Amino acid sequence: MTDRYASFVQSAAGRALVKRLGLPDPPRLRRHHPGDPLLAGPALLGAATGGRLAEPIAEILTAAGVELADPAATPQRYGALLFDATGITDSTELRQLYDFFHPQARAVLPSGRVIVLGTPPQECATPREATAQRALEGLVRSIGKEFGRGTTAQLVYVTRAGNAAADGPDLSAGTHTGLASTLRFILSGRSAYVSGQVIRVGGGAASTPADWDRPLDGQVVLVTGAARGIGAALAKVLARDGAKVVALDIPAAGDALAAVANDIGGTAVQLDLTAPDAPTRLAEHLASRHGRVEVVVHNAGITRDKTLGRMDADRWDQVIDVNLSSQERINDMLLERELIPAGGRIISVSSIAGIAGNRGQTNYATSKAGVIGLVDSLAPALRARGISVNAVAPGFIETRLTARIPLVVREAGRRMNSLAQGGLPVDVAETIGWLAWPASGAVSGNVVRVCGQSLLGA
Ligand SMILES: NC(=O)c1ccc[n+]([C@@H]2O[C@H](COP(=O)([O-])OP(=O)(O)OC[C@H]3O[C@@H](n4cnc5c(N)ncnc54)[C@H](O)[C@@H]3O)[C@@H](O)[C@H]2O)c1
Repeated sequence: MTDRYASFVQSAAGRALVKRLGLPDPPRLRRHHPGDPLLAGPALLGAATGGRLAEPIAEILTAAGVELADPAATPQRYGALLFDATGITDSTELRQLYDFFHPQARAVLPSGRVIVLGTPPQECATPREATAQRALEGLVRSIGKEFGRGTTAQLVYVTRAGNAAADGPDLSAGTHTGLASTLRFILSGRSAYVSGQVIRVGGGAASTPADWDRPLDGQVVLVTGAARGIGAALAKVLARDGAKVVALDIPAAGDALAAVANDIGGTAVQLDLTAPDAPTRLAEHLASRHGRVEVVVHNAGITRDKTLGRMDADRWDQVIDVNLSSQERINDMLLERELIPAGGRIISVSSIAGIAGNRGQTNYATSKAGVIGLVDSLAPALRARGISVNAVAPGFIETRLTARIPLVVREAGRRMNSLAQGGLPVDVAETIGWLAWPASGAVSGNVVRVCGQSLLGA
């Protein structure tokens, strides 16, 4: 599915018309290609007085080959602006954010990155500190809406080192692995369609990959619904990153599934996830072929739209079963048989419909909100086993699913976000990829929207 308007806008005639009529102006987003540098220009790093993260961040950036800009140098253009706000303990100190960002507001290169790092408010020592740290969200979300030209903005709450030491990696200990994977993801073109997000890092073990271009080397990854759309893109991205992919879909999609699996050197499993024996058959397949599965991606999903008054019970039941209950049954089986080892990952695909609700989608939105509940409840329960649980919530992604939406509604859905365009299946896949990396063990219990900072449910 192509966005013809976005292609037109990037032509000379299109640019002129957009300017003259003040039409939406979707920028061309920077997307990841193996071997790409993380950023198109140097990063400017600032910190509030007393912050605890500037040093680890500088080390992570340097190790990743990012050039750190000299703040005293003549005005220049930046690939990213990063600010360590962990030193802010009172609202009166928020002024330091203005002092850092105001002079640079026009100095960010296209598809640039803005990252603010803070302390989770619930970990703060005083109500005033918690208040000031919570305030960071408003700044970040507004920058995401203001800076334009493909620039994204995220807030990363990093657990205090003391807490992490008891419960996972100590970010002051020198390796900084827990934070490295998240910073690398956000800075790179992998996060092209992720903006306005609050990401929590802390707890859980993380390891550094031998090669950051193959961060999933040797990992066995199950992708459900892999025959087409987001699932097919997922299989491709995860295989590119080094994973051994087990691609699953319904028998009726067997040919398309085989094509995806062959293309990436993975294996195909034809299975209807709602079949009563599906969890056992899947567990037996994984046990006999691989002995384990490090990463489980619950991507398969269906819609059966009708307003509630017109919806028959079958539509309700099918959607809840495919999108939610089957995930629970499969998780239970794989966990019970200990097929997901320590360091394992469970990643579910939710939707912004599960956050905002949607007319005609009571069944779908219920199932997708349930997926968020699954993350909230399972992540703390599985922490002790070293397994992380996260979800991504896609917004408008250019697939067959969205191609079926009536034209006017589709056009509105596409433009109603800070990047003025729909995302691509690869954008969802790259975000799931990051959560799957062994290096991302400190990221658990998150629901990350891949929606270009959609206005829906914001
Ligand atoms: N496309 C979007 O804009 C969008 C937005 C938000 C969320 N999502 C979610 O992303 C996921 C993928 O969406 P997509 O757009 O690629 O959809 P899609 O319909 O193109 O692909 C879904 C795949 O899941 C498979 N599947 C369905 N029922 C199954 C079952 N019982 N057992 C095994 N496989 C089954 C289908 O055969 C299909 O190959 C879904 O969970 C969807 O709800 C998509």
